[in-house]
Amino acid sequence: MRIAAIADIHGNDLALEAVLADIEAQAIATVVNLGDHLSGALNAARTADILIARNFASIRGNHDRWLIEKRPAEMGEWDRTARAQLAARHFEWLASLPETRVVADQLFLCHGTPHSDTTYWLDDIAPGGTMRISARERIEAFAAGIDFPVILCGHTHIARCVTLADGRLVVNPGSVGCPAYDDDEPVPHTVETGSPHARYAILEKGPGGWNVDFRLVAYDHMAMSQLAAERNMASYASALRSGWLAHAGEGSR
Ligand SMILES: [Fe+2]
Repeated sequence: MRIAAIADIHGNDLALEAVLADIEAQAIATVVNLGDHLSGALNAARTADILIARNFASIRGNHDRWLIEKRPAEMGEWDRTARAQLAARHFEWLASLPETRVVADQLFLCHGTPHSDTTYWLDDIAPGGTMRISARERIEAFAAGIDFPVILCGHTHIARCVTLADGRLVVNPGSVGCPAYDDDEPVPHTVETGSPHARYAILEKGPGGWNVDFRLVAYDHMAMSQLAAERNMASYASALRSGWLAHAGEGSR
């Protein structure tokens, strides 16, 4: 069994297409998609149309939920920018997605943790507002009762695999479309991966257990950075250009 896990596309259609081409080049037929498909500075509608046509096993992320639940006046800039591009068929697709799901009796899919689409799991906010690997006890606690050999999550945009004490894996494939961001909730913090690649993971059950292959795919990230800049999202443009947020003298933040 060989599957590709994608997450946190955030409307980056060029990154998504590059990742899908890389997946097809390796003849992987099964793709699972962990949410936050559309919100951001980029091409929400085209991304949605690609995903609707492919019909991957998908779940809903917090931003997908907010696109459905929130009124525009309540939305942040990422959701408002995406919402303005979307048609009824896109909202219907988002509303059809479950919060979690099980694939092939082996994989449990969630966005943040099994019980929350807004909680960071494998990484968490350190003093000073950067990210670091979560405490082992915290990681174990969120996996309680999830009786599948591989648990997949997204949301932090940081690729990581943690092996639990009983051998189960928790894997975050990283973000297809957004390699850095900052957020004020629950406290101000930044996530920076340091390169502009589109990220995803391949999981394969081998004789020794599950193998995990984190993939970094180069694509035309400068085109997407330019698009964010044209939409006056300077820090987002920096993230797409380099995997780092804008720093003093380089743009907003
Ligand atoms: Fe998220």
